Amino acid sequence: MKLKRVALFLLALTLFLPCLSSADEELGTVYNKGLPSLRDAYADYFDFGAAITGTEMNDISQLRGLSYQFSILTCGNEMKPEALLDVAESRKLAREDDTAVATRFNSCKYILKFAQGQGIKMHGHVLVWHSQTPEAFFHVGYDLKQPFVSREVMLARLENYIRQVMEYTHENFPGLIVSWDVVNEAVADNGPNELRESNWTKVVGQDFIERAFEYARKYAEEGTLLYYNDYSTPYEPKLTRICSLLDRLIAEGNIDGYGFQCHYSTGTPSMQQVGMAFARISAKGLRLRVSELDVKINANTEAWRNIQADTYENLFRIFLRYADKIEAVQVWGIVDSRSWLSTEYPLLFSGSHGYAKPAFYRLIQLAKAWKK
Ligand code: GLA
Repeated sequence: MKLKRVALFLLALTLFLPCLSSADEELGTVYNKGLPSLRDAYADYFDFGAAITGTEMNDISQLRGLSYQFSILTCGNEMKPEALLDVAESRKLAREDDTAVATRFNSCKYILKFAQGQGIKMHGHVLVWHSQTPEAFFHVGYDLKQPFVSREVMLARLENYIRQVMEYTHENFPGLIVSWDVVNEAVADNGPNELRESNWTKVVGQDFIERAFEYARKYAEEGTLLYYNDYSTPYEPKLTRICSLLDRLIAEGNIDGYGFQCHYSTGTPSMQQVGMAFARISAKGLRLRVSELDVKINANTEAWRNIQADTYENLFRIFLRYADKIEAVQVWGIVDSRSWLSTEYPLLFSGSHGYAKPAFYRLIQLAKAWKK
């Protein structure tokens, strides 16, 4: 069965590759080696990476270009709790032990295998989040008709979940996942409370973040960097709240870094706000990542694509200033047509063909011109 699949894959590869050949090679797209390489251009500063989803992996043409442009990848959805937690199986196990957790890795396995084969690092995203996490995780017997479990049961489930994810990845892909988003988006944008209200705060309480980092550290492979990741970092009161959360996590000793999501537009936030946020957070001595960069534009015109290139360049001028602290800069997707913001054309490669946009060339030029 397995052999048959491999044979079909090789057949598809030989049939498909010639179709792409010369014309595309000459034009240069993210799918071939006809462009300069972002990975090489930024190699002296940080890893250059991207989020990739299962649908992108279905497109065989992408397999060829990715390791040329990117040195690190993140699964867009395939390692989120919704993908890894096996609710039906967990429900069965819960009849004996309500702290039991069942996990499955069919959604991400082939992406991890691909990265391993191509010599690309992986960043894990994400262990704990209020979103894309099955509601049943929080209920007695994994049954939505039952009430929430106790704090103790939820903490035991959290520890079991993190242990299984860490064990699976380091047993099957040793050394591949160099860092993890342990907790995503826990801080409230506004309102009276520092943390967003979620099933995590309701069932565990305000310290679910500290406990998640404790378990992640306990089971992570030696040397894996553990991050807290969030959006809207340059805005108050969120920035001050993120800083106070980071202070608490640093005091417990299990966090290594902060991930700036950076889902931005041209002009918003201002470069001054972004620079301020980098200054405040980097002063804490943490490692930094730009984890989910994209820059929306109003229309897919040349004028807007040039304004977008200005924004990308200005952002990278800030990132380069912090290059000694930044582990990786990752765009959130590869081509505009597959972006979660596809109607706002936020990425470095256009359409589905993956032609390089002005922002791509600007980043290549900037890396060449930048003096360390
Ligand atoms: C957030 C999450 C990502 C992704 C984007 C939207 O930033 O952290 O995993 O879901 O939203 O695609």
